[in-house]
Amino acid sequence: MFTSPRRSLAGNLIAVAVVATMASFLVLRSSITTVTAATSPTASAAAVGSVLDMEPIPRTPERLARGKYLVEGLLQCAGCHSENDFSKRPVEVLPGKKLGGFVFPNAEIGLKTPNRIVAPNISPDLEYGAGTWKDADFVRALRQGIGHDGRTLYPLMPYFYFRSLSDEDLASVVVYERSVPPVHIKRPKTFLTEDIRKSFQPLLPMEHIPEPNRSDRVSYGHYLVTGGHCDGCHTPVDEKGGPIAGMEFSGGQPLVGAWAGGKKIITVNALNLTPDASGISYFDENMFIEVIRNGGFRARPLANIMPWAFFRNLTDDDLKAIFEYLHSLKPICHHVDNTEPATYCKQCRTKHGLGAMN
Ligand code: HEC
Ligand code: HEC
Repeated sequence: MFTSPRRSLAGNLIAVAVVATMASFLVLRSSITTVTAATSPTASAAAVGSVLDMEPIPRTPERLARGKYLVEGLLQCAGCHSENDFSKRPVEVLPGKKLGGFVFPNAEIGLKTPNRIVAPNISPDLEYGAGTWKDADFVRALRQGIGHDGRTLYPLMPYFYFRSLSDEDLASVVVYERSVPPVHIKRPKTFLTEDIRKSFQPLLPMEHIPEPNRSDRVSYGHYLVTGGHCDGCHTPVDEKGGPIAGMEFSGGQPLVGAWAGGKKIITVNALNLTPDASGISYFDENMFIEVIRNGGFRARPLANIMPWAFFRNLTDDDLKAIFEYLHSLKPICHHVDNTEPATYCKQCRTKHGLGAMN
């Protein structure tokens, strides 16, 4: 049975406002030094000498394997770019539709007709997918938010986060992404009214980004948490969709959709991931791994909007680094509990379980 994938949706929608602000800031600042770099569709996506400047990016077994690991684990591309069955635990892509695109229901992303957001078919289908695009088109989409047609992408596509991937990781993502089976399904195009289109801008190209230092566990964890865009959902947002300062990773943000499968729309609030007693200070590494792998504790399953279906594919080592980073965060006292009735919370200015306690 079909249920749509609004998954990271909400998460990134949140990020949308943030991204838009950051993007305009970056572009503004850049106009002093690098005039048209961000807006020219032909601008180079990476520094000279990077693997990302090669067309095509050389296909190697290492890149294919690394790309698969990132795409199917941390980065959740199929969560948005495919139709998913949310009644399954873990969530599953409908057979034969992986990366074949998805039209987002407006109600779930807070847009009105005639606006329409489509995560396009990025499978290598020659007619309806990305079969004729260049590797550089993918690089530019992920680093700068510019589509193959030169259009600035709606920041629901998490390019603000993906742009921090190392050159080599990004190259691997592209190599894997272009190796999946083609999906022969035509999707409509994104349509946005002028006022919305004007509200976001492409980002500048990045310099060469080296491999993350895996021996510094906290900074490596930060690298992973950025790629997985955890804060897109786990940081509460204000009325304009921007993050509430001082509340980073402390939960509360409501995510609305059919996360339980079927048609029933439910609201689930992201939980507090900071090392406070109201957060996950009581977790240890093993418990964290268990929660991510199984989608919660036996008695308290995590809703499917939490992308555990992807994160469960990460290695123990990577999950431990993520946990170390989360444990290095500033503890924030913010009670959130989805098993309790929703009440108003003055800290994050929305309703959630235990809100009145804050
Ligand atoms: C949270 C949802 C989401 C996730 C996760 C996501 N995307 Fe996207 N992506 C979108 C949306 C929505 C668009 C279209 C935006 C628009 O039309 O303005 C898009 C656009 C793109 C484009 C540009 C297509 C074009 O027309 O040129 C590429 C390439 C792309 N995504 C690749 C990826 C890859 C690779 C991943 C994983 C590393 C990924 N996306 C993860 C939502 C997502
Ligand atoms: C698309 C939104 C979204 C993204 C992205 C997301 N989460 Fe979550 N997460 C949630 C929601 C919603 C819940 C609460 C689910 C519930 O209570 O059923 C949750 C719950 C959790 C929990 C359980 C906490 C507890 O107290 O039981 C952990 C741990 C967690 N997330 C870690 C992460 C990490 C680490 C990342 C990034 C690698 C991440 N999440 C990315 C939405 C998200």
